[in-house]
Amino acid sequence: MSRFYITTPIYYVSDVPHLGHAYTTIVCDALSRYHRMRGEPTRFLTGTDEHGQKIARLAEAHHVTPRAYADKFAEAYQATWRALEVANDDFIRTTDPDHEATVQEVWRRMNKSGAIYLADYEGWYCVACEQFYTEKELKGNDCPVHGRPVEKVKEQSFYFKLSQYRDRLLELYDKHPEFVQPDTRRNEVRAFVAGELRDLSISRTTFNWGVPVPDQDKHIIYVWLDALTNYYSATRRSDEAKQFWDQPDARIVHMIGKEIIRFHAVYWPAFLMAADLPLPTTVFAHGWWTVDGEKMSKTLGNVVDPLKLSQDIGVDAFRYFVLREVPLGSDGDFSHEALITRYNAELCNDLGNLLNRTLGMVSKYQFNAIANSGKALCNDVTNYSARFAEAMEALAPSKALEEIWRLVRRANEFIDKEAPWKQDRAGQERILGEVLEVCRALSHLTSPFMPERAAEMQRQLGLDEPPAMPAWSARTFTPAQAVPLFPRIDDDRKAQLLAHWTPKKETPAQREPRVTYAEFQKLDLRVGRVLAAEAVPKAKKLLKLTVDVGATGQRQVVAGIAETYRPEELVGKRVILLANLEPATIRGVLSEGMILAAGDDDVVALSGLDRDAPPGTKVR
Ligand code: MSP
Repeated sequence: MSRFYITTPIYYVSDVPHLGHAYTTIVCDALSRYHRMRGEPTRFLTGTDEHGQKIARLAEAHHVTPRAYADKFAEAYQATWRALEVANDDFIRTTDPDHEATVQEVWRRMNKSGAIYLADYEGWYCVACEQFYTEKELKGNDCPVHGRPVEKVKEQSFYFKLSQYRDRLLELYDKHPEFVQPDTRRNEVRAFVAGELRDLSISRTTFNWGVPVPDQDKHIIYVWLDALTNYYSATRRSDEAKQFWDQPDARIVHMIGKEIIRFHAVYWPAFLMAADLPLPTTVFAHGWWTVDGEKMSKTLGNVVDPLKLSQDIGVDAFRYFVLREVPLGSDGDFSHEALITRYNAELCNDLGNLLNRTLGMVSKYQFNAIANSGKALCNDVTNYSARFAEAMEALAPSKALEEIWRLVRRANEFIDKEAPWKQDRAGQERILGEVLEVCRALSHLTSPFMPERAAEMQRQLGLDEPPAMPAWSARTFTPAQAVPLFPRIDDDRKAQLLAHWTPKKETPAQREPRVTYAEFQKLDLRVGRVLAAEAVPKAKKLLKLTVDVGATGQRQVVAGIAETYRPEELVGKRVILLANLEPATIRGVLSEGMILAAGDDDVVALSGLDRDAPPGTKVR
């Protein structure tokens, strides 16, 4: 019997989890529960990705240490998974000391095999992706994924000889088609590797929130090398865990979203080859959820909160919906309407009603106990269970649910056709006994997807069995009182839920407090010309500017733009200056005004004029 090891990506501790994160995690939970119910040694890992520039900057912007920032969101992830009935065996944080030690160990192994060298690096970096880009890959000056300006990086860096692993990677994809799934992704990855494969910069020197390169304290290991290693480092934690990486019978599945396929299907196996460690079996990239046809984003205000939905409609109904709605691997659209429609049709009508009407008849016809002596539905249970298992083995949970629902419908049709209400007592017992046995099978088959409702089915059937593959049995049932598994959502409740889930959208302007024209007039905005600019010592973000404001004279202004602009770029630039801001001393430097710039946390661009206007001109 083979071992099954499944992992989610480790999530950035930049915010609380949303639908996308919940989706990957629930998929892995369902798959691991399936393997456990087969009695296979199973391990399911999830965790958080806590190092790197993205987190360091967020923490700085919130005036807390990166550690404190990470703690808060690592806890939010764990709490969400508990609430969503996610039964992970371990939770790894990249700040765990044992993980950090393993990252250094992997680095040493890669270095020992001659796969690492030191050189000067110059290029572009997107902090949101934590990824380097070549000029060709950019969209103008922007990151192709986030559409935000990339940053110039020029520093000494350790490189990984990725180009030397080209042939071995191609051989891996060709010999092991199961390594990258689905097929379309494999073609994509193969084409990337078959093209110009460049060596990869794997260390940074300009910040320190990360794992140091062994014996080279100035260098911090690239956050993706650090993060990818989690899958392996978590297996170093116990002898039992080790088996899931070291034993040749271990089936290792990395479940990820399609946007991070290159890291997992190209860099990660190459790192492992260099370190001379076993490779995972499969990297499976699932698609992306949009919400009512739109990309999920904070700015649009349409981010789906899995906890809120689960509280209203039930955790298992939420889990069922995301697993059933989209075939794993395809993109999908999340619609609140569709959630309620599936809930009423499939959970309430099909499955819920099957159990409810069966138990209702048992009680109505006053059976204390019912023996299953029939076999009419035995083949159906055997066949659909086999098809369910086949789909789960093929990493197709949506398909597996489809097969289960075929069995549900088959049992409902059986009741309609046999019509127990027209039968004598023996006939009723024969029909109900069989259907109870199907319900028992269903309580097992649905358990990977809906663990809590499956246990409730067991309770109502008068059983208490650990999840296992169903096998038809002649047994006697002593069921409990029927309680609806999924109470119907009527039109009133539906309207209520939809209003609660999708509040009327406000434009950003409506959300901001308004100012009167008189208030606006109090601002003395003027054209300024930068005469001089220099760094402020010990303040990474600050520049000291001398600005010509025409007749009003010259001003000294401290601006938080040092991470976006170099001092020499600014001299001669026209900017818009708030001239009557209360003066302040910032890091010991007097600042007599503020220049306007675009950007939320980080400055993206300075304000300017589309035509020339003399310094001192009023802006209104
Ligand atoms: N920290 C990296 C992963 C390192 S793994 C060694 C990262 N983290 S993340 O927080 O951005 O999470 C990305 C993952 O969240 C995706 O791969 C996917 O699993 C999930 N999703 C995030 N948004 C999603 C959708 N809109 N739809 C579906 N899943 C997506 O990347």
